[in-house]
Amino acid sequence: MVADQPVQQNDPGFAVNGYFIRPPGKVSEITRVYEIKDIKLVTQITSSDAERKMLADAGYAEPAINYYIEKKYMGHIENADQVSEKVGSCGDIMKVYIKLNGSEIIEDVRYEITGCAGAISAAMAAVDLVKGKTIDEALKLNDGDVFTVLENIPEKKHHCIQLAVKTMHQGLNEYRQGA
Ligand code: FES
Repeated sequence: MVADQPVQQNDPGFAVNGYFIRPPGKVSEITRVYEIKDIKLVTQITSSDAERKMLADAGYAEPAINYYIEKKYMGHIENADQVSEKVGSCGDIMKVYIKLNGSEIIEDVRYEITGCAGAISAAMAAVDLVKGKTIDEALKLNDGDVFTVLENIPEKKHHCIQLAVKTMHQGLNEYRQGA
C-alpha cells in the first residue's frame, strides 16, 4: 500500500487476531503496523482482566482467583513416590503426584486436572496446606481448611473442593498401602 493513500469508500478493512479493522480516513502502512501492535497489546491485557472479572462476578474471592490463574502446582512429578487418580461425581478427573522426603514428609505435590476453576483453585490451595507436613497431618486436611484459604468460591462449586481433598487423601492412603 502507498503511504497516505486515501481510503476508498468501500475499503473493506482487514482482520487481525479476530478483530476487524476498518482503516481511518487516511492510512499508511506505518499507521496500520501501529494499529496492529496496539490491538495485540490491548487484547493481552483485557483477556486477563476479563477472566478475573468473570471469576469475581461468579463468586470467586481474590485468593481463589490467584490460585486458578497461577496454577503453580499443575503438572506432574517425574519420579513421584505415588500417583493416584480420582473421578468426581461430576465426571471431572484429578490425578495427584506425591513426592516424599523420606517415608513420611511431603516434599512436593502436583495435580493434573480435567475440571473447572473451582477444582483447580482448590487443588492448588490443598498443596500449599500439605507441603512440608507429615502424611498423618495431611490426612487431617479437610474441605473447610481449603475453603478458608480460598476465602470464597461459588456454593455450587463446593464439591470441587471435596474432590481435591479426596484425591489427596486417596494418594496418601494408597502410598501407605503400597498400591
Ligand atoms: Fe467437576 Fe468442579 S465441576 S470438579
